[in-house]
Amino acid sequence: LALIIRNGTVVNAFGRCRADVRVEGERVTAIGEGTGQPGDEELDASGCHVLPGGIDPHTHIEMPAGEGGCNAGTWYSETAAAVAGGTTCVLDMITQERGATLTAALRDWQRRAQAGAVCDFGFHMGVTDPLPEVLAEMEAVAAAGVPSFKLYLAYRDRLMVADGAAFRIMRAAGALGALTLVHAENGDLIETLVAEARAAGRLAAGVHGETRPALAEGEATHRAMQLAQLAAAPIYIVHVTCREALAAVRAARQAGRPVWAEACAHHLLLTDAEYRRPGFGAAPYVLSPPLRDPEDVAALWGGLEDGALDLVATDHCPWHLAGQKERGRHDFAAIPNGAPGVEERLALLWTHGVETGRWTPEQFVARTSANAARIFRLEGKGAVLPGCDADLVVWDPAVRRSLSAATHHSAVDHSIYEGMPVAGRARFTLVRGRVVATEGKPVAEAGWGRFARRH
Ligand code: URP
Ligand code: ZN
Ligand code: ZN
Repeated sequence: LALIIRNGTVVNAFGRCRADVRVEGERVTAIGEGTGQPGDEELDASGCHVLPGGIDPHTHIEMPAGEGGCNAGTWYSETAAAVAGGTTCVLDMITQERGATLTAALRDWQRRAQAGAVCDFGFHMGVTDPLPEVLAEMEAVAAAGVPSFKLYLAYRDRLMVADGAAFRIMRAAGALGALTLVHAENGDLIETLVAEARAAGRLAAGVHGETRPALAEGEATHRAMQLAQLAAAPIYIVHVTCREALAAVRAARQAGRPVWAEACAHHLLLTDAEYRRPGFGAAPYVLSPPLRDPEDVAALWGGLEDGALDLVATDHCPWHLAGQKERGRHDFAAIPNGAPGVEERLALLWTHGVETGRWTPEQFVARTSANAARIFRLEGKGAVLPGCDADLVVWDPAVRRSLSAATHHSAVDHSIYEGMPVAGRARFTLVRGRVVATEGKPVAEAGWGRFARRH
């Protein structure tokens, strides 16, 4: 028995056509006219685009937060939110606990993700303590289907690694043919600015922005690029936010170096004006790197246009205001960093990318799905083609709605996009042939998601 997605426009990164899509089991088996047979089930895609499911290569789901706790939501709730919004695969950031092994961290993430996930998932392995025996473990991690490693040049005393350690991680990854992802901000400088602001009694949430200046990101991005060149290693810069960082990425790419980079949705859609909210009002926007000024926002859109940036991720990292961000009500430095967004990404980018005429639907597919599949080697994903996984979104561009915490599916008590109007909604989301969301509502049970092993 097959499922036929009828009367839609199939969009890939390389082109589009009016066609039906035949799904058998977990795969697409045919695209074209007359692919149906008597007895097939049908999904109506009239007026819709049939897109490869969104791939969000940067999330933090059930991220540990000390004392056995974690950020808001669960693998079930956050991947249910993902599929409601049209995303069918996430790549989540594992964090090695200092003093523990990478293998233990991988096992822990695998177990929790497999129990809860509605969509497919893979991982990047965050290395925080690169002892020789830890570097030696990287081969086994890559062989287990996680051929990408993450390091932080910020969050001193928690996640940050020094330059020598960053170099060693990059070199070890490069030797394995694996990619190193870098959070590029100058952690020492930031801690100095944070300490000075606190000493001056400047403690409101909005002060967060000015303690993490664009130059501190530009400097660290440039440094990461130099270290990667010395290590002969390919790198991927996560959440590029500003002109300084973009210039460093662009220069490296023009020099032909193996460098890739992402923007995140919130940096394309919000500005540092949010940090002018008084008192605790800016707490939802305490995320790193921070929101930037309108010229930086315009530069990021330009970077996507000219190819300096490859794709748009979310850095989905939800924290409740009540009981979590609130811990820093009287001290911005105690507010956990991060914001939700995995559910909203496609609608925001369809609205501000495609509806405005800035992007074609093909470019939308490239920047929300296909490029992530290529860079992170997600075989069988990122395209609507015979033989590919039937990870599909029947995207209805005619639906108009407003984003709100009252209607989103992420288990978090606020939205940084509250009240924003958007165009478009997933009429159906399929993960490997199974309908997991209809009309923007998740319908699948926990555990349908499968580990996406990468080579
Ligand atoms: O503020 C953020 N981005 N929190 C999540 C951790 C990170 O830096 O990616
Ligand atoms: Zn980061
Ligand atoms: Zn992140």
